[in-house]
Amino acid sequence: MRMNRDALFLLIASFTFLLPINGDNSYHLQQMKAMRELRSSISSRRQLAAGDAPAPSPVSISPSPQQMAQVGDSPRVYDVTSYGADPTGGRDSTDAFSTVLSDLVKGPTSGTMLKDIKNFGGAQIHLAGGNYLISKPLRFPSAGVGNVVIVGGSLRASDDFPTDGYLIDLSSKSSSDYDYEYITLRDLMLDSNFRGGGIFLNDAVRITIDNCYVTHFTTDGVGVMITGQANILTGVHCYNKASGFGGTGIYIKLPGLSQTRIVNSYMDFTGITVEDPVQLTISDTFFLGGAYVVFKSVKGVAKGVSVVNNMFSGSGGDTVRLEGEFNEIGGVLVDGNSVNGGMNLKATVARGSTSANGTSWTVDFNSELLFPNRISHAQYSLVSSTAGAFPRHALRNITGNVVVVESDVPVTASVFAAVSQ
Ligand SMILES: *[C@@H]1O[C@H](CO)[C@@H](O)[C@H](O)[C@H]1NC(C)=O
Ligand SMILES: *[C@@H]1O[C@H](CO)[C@@H](O)[C@H](O)[C@H]1NC(C)=O
Repeated sequence: MRMNRDALFLLIASFTFLLPINGDNSYHLQQMKAMRELRSSISSRRQLAAGDAPAPSPVSISPSPQQMAQVGDSPRVYDVTSYGADPTGGRDSTDAFSTVLSDLVKGPTSGTMLKDIKNFGGAQIHLAGGNYLISKPLRFPSAGVGNVVIVGGSLRASDDFPTDGYLIDLSSKSSSDYDYEYITLRDLMLDSNFRGGGIFLNDAVRITIDNCYVTHFTTDGVGVMITGQANILTGVHCYNKASGFGGTGIYIKLPGLSQTRIVNSYMDFTGITVEDPVQLTISDTFFLGGAYVVFKSVKGVAKGVSVVNNMFSGSGGDTVRLEGEFNEIGGVLVDGNSVNGGMNLKATVARGSTSANGTSWTVDFNSELLFPNRISHAQYSLVSSTAGAFPRHALRNITGNVVVVESDVPVTASVFAAVSQ
């Protein structure tokens, strides 16, 4: 796998390199020139708009904490390095992050969002492209935080990080239904250092995890653990610990009310487990190394679920699996996925055919269909090559995911069947 990836990278790299050479060089240069002119015109326009005000320094993302205290109405972008966090990953930066988080929750708010959740107006904790070592989960000192962004860098668990902790922990012990709303975690690499997990969303609602790389979570651990509603994961890369060794990339523990969308993500040797999925979308995601999706039964409910347009790659096993029995099923669509390698593609819609000479045709859909003994719709056509024969035929049975068609007289025929669950 790794060799393939390196090869792919090389291929892309060489294409990128070759393009300008193979393309019309003078045209390319013209484009570059036009781009530079556009850029300088934009910056002079910006300066005009800003009047006499000095241009903001490109280096400092935010004022220092001291300045912050004085300038109450400055934009709230908290650069963790100005709080003493070490962007080289050498020193432990836990204390610096704690101070940032407690400063942020002291900041001004404008009204509330969901009950008891304060609107922090989009305040940002900026990791400034650094790689920080932390020995405790990052948590807000109090619950009720909304409209905050954490962006742009890497976090790594230290060797004494708690093995049951998550690098970013949006959970609280408060009794309210929701503690965090509209928090965006973006462009982050989270390395759990085989100590704990990556991200924990508990009683957290409308959280977006966007373009994050979660890696090295523990054997019993989970890359992203979700127990709150209406969250979106997009462009999330989970790698290791592999499912084969007990790891779970994303775990949604919210039986009966998942309301989660996982799109455009990359499950690398590690899969997604969802308890009683209700309102769940998993789409356009790449499952590599035999990674798969598990629906785990708590009360046996699966409703309003789409697992579509995903790519699976691996040597064996089913792409979507059930743990336990499901008996309340509705609107579950698993379709349009593809496999490469020996994995068995599971779906809730399937087509099949069989040819025989006789009065009975049987198409067994058990290896394709996700739910056992459940065909809610079936259609078939019987195509006979026996000259002059116009047999009467009927669909006899769909029990046990097996379609049986019978005719009144023996004919040589093929039966095509399409079923859905
Ligand atoms: C089909 O079966 C019938 C009777 O069982 C037999 O007479 C006929 O030759 C068979 N046709 C073919 C094509 O095998
Ligand atoms: C349909 O198939 C099942 C399983 O083989 C069988 O138990 C049942 O009796 C069949 N039903 C009919 C109407 O033939």
